[in-house]
Amino acid sequence: MKTIKDLGDLRGKRVLVRCDLNVPLDGTVITDDGRIRASLPTIKSLTSAGARVIVMAHLGRPKGAPEERFSLAPVAQRLGDLLGAPVAFAVDTVGSSAQTVVAGLGDGDVALLENLRFNPGETSKDDGARGAFADELAALGDAYVSDGFGVVHRKQASVYDVAKRLPSAVGGLVLTEVEALSRATDNPERPYVVILGGSKVSDKLGVISHLLDKADCLLIGGGMVYTFLAAQGHEVGRSLLEADQINQVKEYLERAATMGVEIVLPIDLVVADDIKPDASPVIVRANAIPHDLMGLDIGPESRELFREKILAAKTVVWNGPVGVFELPIFAGGTRAVAQALVDSDAFSIVGGGDSAAAVRLLGLDINGFGHISTGGGASLEFLEGKTLPGIAVLEG
Ligand code: 3PG
Repeated sequence: MKTIKDLGDLRGKRVLVRCDLNVPLDGTVITDDGRIRASLPTIKSLTSAGARVIVMAHLGRPKGAPEERFSLAPVAQRLGDLLGAPVAFAVDTVGSSAQTVVAGLGDGDVALLENLRFNPGETSKDDGARGAFADELAALGDAYVSDGFGVVHRKQASVYDVAKRLPSAVGGLVLTEVEALSRATDNPERPYVVILGGSKVSDKLGVISHLLDKADCLLIGGGMVYTFLAAQGHEVGRSLLEADQINQVKEYLERAATMGVEIVLPIDLVVADDIKPDASPVIVRANAIPHDLMGLDIGPESRELFREKILAAKTVVWNGPVGVFELPIFAGGTRAVAQALVDSDAFSIVGGGDSAAAVRLLGLDINGFGHISTGGGASLEFLEGKTLPGIAVLEG
């Protein structure tokens, strides 16, 4: 893969940079700016080389038309604050505003285009429609840098097609991510323990299947737990359940047993009648969830058990919170997992937007982790060993 150095002298050149600035917002307030911060080194290296930097990004999943709540305007503001220099914001993607903003850039200046997904061409499955949008984007620049690791698993115009139209290079963030995640995929130091949380089993089926061949131990938490408990024949009350995945999960449990891979489920749980800050949580055995309550975090004994497994590991990957950490009463399990990672000597990777956000929101020392990935789906697909279009296009 070509790196930024291979693009030659960038002074005065217009460089399009795809970043992943898909940050959580509360209205127009950014609640976790980790992805913006992670994008700074590449942007700064380009501005100090005298490039005219045009940042391209998406926010949320608008359906190919502008929607105020998905505007990148608050991100432009924060990016400018963090860079300590104004960021010119184009209120469209390739229209008159984008063209004027780009034409007004001086050497070392930075612009941000409005949410790429306001244009249907960005995410279109039709090569022609995507290509037409990529043509318009490519016309704004002289070179392209791919630095949005969180989107490299998407075959989208700004990730894939633009790279085919301009001299292209991989950015430092994508390189760092690939290097760190490869430590878990290529001969990981053992024991290799993976903690999987988050709400949807169906999103993680591919990775579970792949990890059964790679990992020594899987710790299961979060909303996924209840489908596993149901697969073992337990009642799960009103907990999140993906009934259509039960058979698949049974198959995984059997495969794990045959292969000698340990699948560790919580032994106790924090349950309540609702996901609300003033709920009255109680702790129950994992096989005795009352029919009118739902599981919302792993219990104290499970935290101890997970900690033991994490401390015994040499490589740990954590993807997905193990409880509803956004509410303090259900954050104990996620905090305990994060703390165990900080305390362990293993090389640890935190992946998935939510777990990375949890680490920061719970106030943990980010230096206690080996690598905090900016990728959610992208880091999972990387761990699954899938070909990622945004990386393959740079290699081709
Ligand atoms: C993410 O949040 O994981 C990335 O920004 C990709 O977003 P997407 O899943 O909407 O493509």
